[in-house]
Parts: sequence; structure tokens; C-alpha cells
Amino acid sequence: MTGNPVAIVGSGIAGLTAALALAPLKVVLITRAAIGKETSSAWAQGGIAAALGRDDSHAQHLADTLSAGDGHCTPEAASRILQGTAEAIAFLENHGIRFDRDNEGELVFGLEAAHSRRRILHAAGDGSGAAIIAALAEAVRKTPSITILSETEARRILLTDDQVSGLLCVRNGRTFSLQTSRVILATGGIGGLYEASTNPSGNFGQGIMLAARAGAELCDMEFVQFHPTALATNRRPLPLISEAVRGEGAILVNDRAERFVKDIKGAELAPRDVVARAIAAQIMTGRRVYLDARKALGSRFASRFPTISDICKSAGIDPARNLIPVRPAEHYHMGGIATDTAGRTSLPGLWAVGECAATGLHGANRLASNSLLEGAVMGLAAARYIKSRPEPLARPMPEITKTPPPPKPDAIRSIAERHLNILRDGPSLKAAINALLPFAEADATAADPAIIALAIAVFAHERRESRGAHMRTDFPLKTARSVQSRMDLSTILETARTISASHPIARSA
Ligand code: SIN
Repeated sequence: MTGNPVAIVGSGIAGLTAALALAPLKVVLITRAAIGKETSSAWAQGGIAAALGRDDSHAQHLADTLSAGDGHCTPEAASRILQGTAEAIAFLENHGIRFDRDNEGELVFGLEAAHSRRRILHAAGDGSGAAIIAALAEAVRKTPSITILSETEARRILLTDDQVSGLLCVRNGRTFSLQTSRVILATGGIGGLYEASTNPSGNFGQGIMLAARAGAELCDMEFVQFHPTALATNRRPLPLISEAVRGEGAILVNDRAERFVKDIKGAELAPRDVVARAIAAQIMTGRRVYLDARKALGSRFASRFPTISDICKSAGIDPARNLIPVRPAEHYHMGGIATDTAGRTSLPGLWAVGECAATGLHGANRLASNSLLEGAVMGLAAARYIKSRPEPLARPMPEITKTPPPPKPDAIRSIAERHLNILRDGPSLKAAINALLPFAEADATAADPAIIALAIAVFAHERRESRGAHMRTDFPLKTARSVQSRMDLSTILETARTISASHPIARSA
């Protein structure tokens, strides 16, 4: 047994899987809300991609992943992660998850955009994420080696001699430090930086901020995925209308009843970035956009998609009879903390798994339902690596003289929504950098979220091409070869200052 626990920050699929797989090593699981709440994993309707069907293969799943990733995936990393599929699914089943099966007991595979096969496993239909997280959370609660610290925020990673020595946390207004030489970040996405997102609003990229402030390298920060079909309501976060609805044949129409994607390759099931741009283009010209499931699903809608049916009904829409109004919204971040396929970051003692990490699997555009898979595979991989190594010596932690201010993204949202959205251009990105830099450099509540938004703006400014989810209207073409960009926080700040100084445009955003 160790004396010094592994600290895991975050309780989505990646964090919970890592915690369970680390047993019997001691783990402290730190989570901002109650365990398994406020996590995008629990909201996943789509399910988990798994090339386990008779007509499917690892090679086919890899080919679809690389194709959706638009030439920007790291093929070796993608291959390796997808190879972990069978183990991850078995692990989930062993921890109580019951994937949907047909009357013969065979797994049922659904179809989603840009998959060439039906390969999406669901548990409890479109309530997959909730079912998976409920089962994992229950297993975690029953595992004696795991201590859960809920309602607790990790505010800084503590370093001694450039290695992880602890975590500075705040719980109920009380600051304390937790001694650990191994931290796994599993904090999820960045949707809280945007006004329109399908993620829990409190998730603005805390793990990326923790890693960046500790000196770890970030990668591919410009690649933010916008889901084409969030329900167009005033609710925030925006409820999702799963791609699986289009997978079952629902079509997209505008308020002139035109099926505007019909000439696009793949039509409604083209890669997500393509469909999101097509919808955004309609909305920019004043059209409204709808998902029409009346013919494809009709009265079967409520039994096939009970969660979505309830969401629609609470907005006064009956999908069997009415068009569903949709719009794109921030949904997933392909970029994040640079890691290898064991989840190791550039900082000794720091791992990152799940959405906050950039492994190279997703490239410029994540293939639908590859994220829950990656979360589970990488949670297992990080745990396996940690268990295979002797425990590092505990280092004395630095003395804490000040608690960083509680992070609040409110001042950042309008900047991200306006400048870091589906369509970008140089002047708009420079305006974002000018607006964000003072926030990022201040010692105030907006600083932590501003650092993440600034990193996205700087990476996006420096990528002078359009690829996957990153669309530059001033550089609409792809370059011949895609280069992965990596920067640490000091380089990001330095680059931002250079851009800001060389392009003195108005600071108001
Ligand atoms: C969806 O159900 O459309 C979302 C699935 C995903 O984001 O992977």
C-alpha cells in the first residue's frame, strides 16, 4: 500500500475509470460537485463507439476516426487507443453497465455521423452517459481504496523542484493542501467559456488551467467542436438533440422546407464540423433550422429516444408531430493538455485523461461517441502505467501564502462566443487576444477562464488554415501537411503580447 494517494480531479468516465482501475492503490477523488454530477459524461446521449460488431473492425474504426479528424490525428496514438476498445467495454460491463441488447442477447449498435458502420453502444437508450456514470459512481463509492472529496475545487498544482508535490484545494471556503506526487486530471470540457454550450456551465477547462499554470504543454487548443443540433431554446446549457436521431433518418430542413444539406457528401451524416457549418450558414442568412423526425421516427420517437423526447416536450415540442428547432453550440474540445497514450503530460507526476487531454485521437474533429471510449481507455491506461511504477518519494510541499481567487467565467463568455466560434478570422482573433490578455494577466476571478480562452485564441490565430472544426474565413484552405502545435503558458502569453503589440486594434470586444 502507498502512503501517498494518487489524486484524481474530476468524476466523469475518465476519472471514475482511473480511480477504479487504480485499486488497491489509495486514491483521493476530488470533484467540484457531487460525484458524477456536473460532468458531460453523464449527459452523453450518443453512447460509446465500439468496433465490436460482426461487420466491423479496428481498421475500419480507425479509418473513420482519421477521416473525421481531417488529417490532424496522430495515427499511432489513435490506433493504440482504439485497440483498447474491447478491454474498456469489458471493464465497464464488469462494473455494472448493461449495454443495450436485442431479444437474442446480441449487442445493439447504433449509427452516428461519419461512422461507416453501426457501432455505437448504448446503455438505457439515449440515457447512456447517465447509466454509465451512475454505475461507475456506485462502484467507486463501494471501493475502500477511494476517498471521495466532493464539493471540492482543485485550484493549483503544487510543485517542488519542477515535480508535482501536491494540490491546493478549496472546500466550503477552506483552503488546504493535499500531498501527492501523482495527479490525474480528468476535468472534462470547456463549454462554460461559451454562452451557448451543451456542457455543464461550471466546466470551463479547469484541468487545462491547472496544467498550464504548472508549466505543462498544451496542444491543439484551437480545435473546438460545435455540435450541429442543440435544441434552439433560451435554456442554458443548451439541451442536445443527439446525432443518433439523424442516424435513425431524421432530416434537416430550414423554414422554407429546404433540405439544405442534401448536396453535401454524407448529407445529415456528414462529419459534425461540416453539418454545423451548414446550419450556421443558414442561420447567418436569417433562416431557422429544424430537425424533422416525423417521417423517419414518428410515433416511435418517444420509445427510441425517451430522454430527448422529454427534453422536447418540456419545450412544448412533440417530435412525433412537430419540427424540432436546432442550432449549433459548443460541445467538445479536441485540444487540451498534451499527453502520450499512457496519459502522461510533459510535467513529471501529472497525467491527463478524457476531454481535458489531447492524445491525438480526435485530430481536428472528433468522431461521434469516440469520447466516452477514449475516457474509459485512457483512464485504464493511466492507472496501468501508475501501478507499474514504484511510488515516487513524497516531496515537501511549498508553503501556501495565498488562496487564488475563485474562478468566474462570466466576463469571458461574450468574448469566446463572439470570437472563438465556428467561423474565425485574423482580426477577430486579435480582438479576442486584446480583450483576454488583461484578464489573463490579472490576479482576479476571471484570470483562470481567461487563460483557457486566450490559449484557444492564440492557437487559432497561429493556425493559418482551415481544418476540421477550425474554420478561418481568411485562410479557407488546408495546408499540405497538418502540424500539431504545442505551447506552454509562458509561450502562449508571450505570443499573445506580441500579437497584441503588433496589431494595436481596439481593446473592446
Ligand atoms: C450526440 O449524441 O450527438 C453526441 C455524441 C457525441 O458527442 O459523441
